[in-house]
Amino acid sequence: MLIAQISDLHIGPIGSSQDENYRTAHHLEAAVTHLLGLPRRPDVVVATGDLVDGGLPEEYARLRSILARLPMPVLVIPGNHDRRETLAAAFADQPWLPQGGGFLHYTLENWPVRVIALDTTVPGKASGEMCAERLSWLDQRLSEQPDRPTILLMHHPPFATGIAAMDEMGLSGKEAFAAVLRRHSQVERILCGHIHRPITARVAGTVATVCPSTAHQIALDLGPERRLAVIMEPPACMLHLWSPTGLVSHLSPIGHPTAPHVLFDGARWLPDNKLPPGFHLVAHRTSNTPPACSTSINDVSM
Ligand SMILES: [Fe+2]
Ligand SMILES: [Fe+2]
Repeated sequence: MLIAQISDLHIGPIGSSQDENYRTAHHLEAAVTHLLGLPRRPDVVVATGDLVDGGLPEEYARLRSILARLPMPVLVIPGNHDRRETLAAAFADQPWLPQGGGFLHYTLENWPVRVIALDTTVPGKASGEMCAERLSWLDQRLSEQPDRPTILLMHHPPFATGIAAMDEMGLSGKEAFAAVLRRHSQVERILCGHIHRPITARVAGTVATVCPSTAHQIALDLGPERRLAVIMEPPACMLHLWSPTGLVSHLSPIGHPTAPHVLFDGARWLPDNKLPPGFHLVAHRTSNTPPACSTSINDVSM
């Protein structure tokens, strides 16, 4: 089973600053084209929050029109930029998504690997939370099927990333969340978003990964200052390949400027001395000087 993960799509209304500044809809179109062109088509796509930028109905309508090209199921969870009610209304035809205004938690039971989707959002806040109610729900769900390999979906990563500005808008309740996980051994992976970068960490005996954005990324800054900068490092998705031996996760950049050059066609090896023009088409920065204008943490939430 192949699970594709996209995250932090941040779709805005047509002609909005999201179009102007980050071209998020354009990048999501490219991500959809990328998924459709993969040598192995994913069985399901999961979108781990910040689906739209302002939680508006017209943003979700635009999102769904772009995602409509995907023939496989697309599971969504909310991020801090989403609004539960408008998200649920926009995906009301999807039977897995609860309606009624509460947390958008759900489980998917009919695949080789079980999926538990967690809603970490707090209305009006950029940070997330695993409160006692959510932890209890998760503990109950994990207790139901202790032997089923399980993937958790959650927008806010359950670990500190070392990027100070992002950790300030991180998840509260991480320790209690880890305590719940330690009682259950079947969690194969925790798939997250929010940070707009590829990150991996061990959490309570399992592995948590963060998927980059389909559009703009957060510049990697592990310094002590509360700096926050965006950068157009390559948009990417993740491909999580499930087999009886476990889950293997790959990063898949979107829109690379050069096509792959085939070295082995399945039957024979081909020479690599005729690489196509532009194979080295990679721009290298010659300095590590930070960008002149980084965005203030007070102006933006990811
Ligand atoms: Fe976020
Ligand atoms: Fe985001």
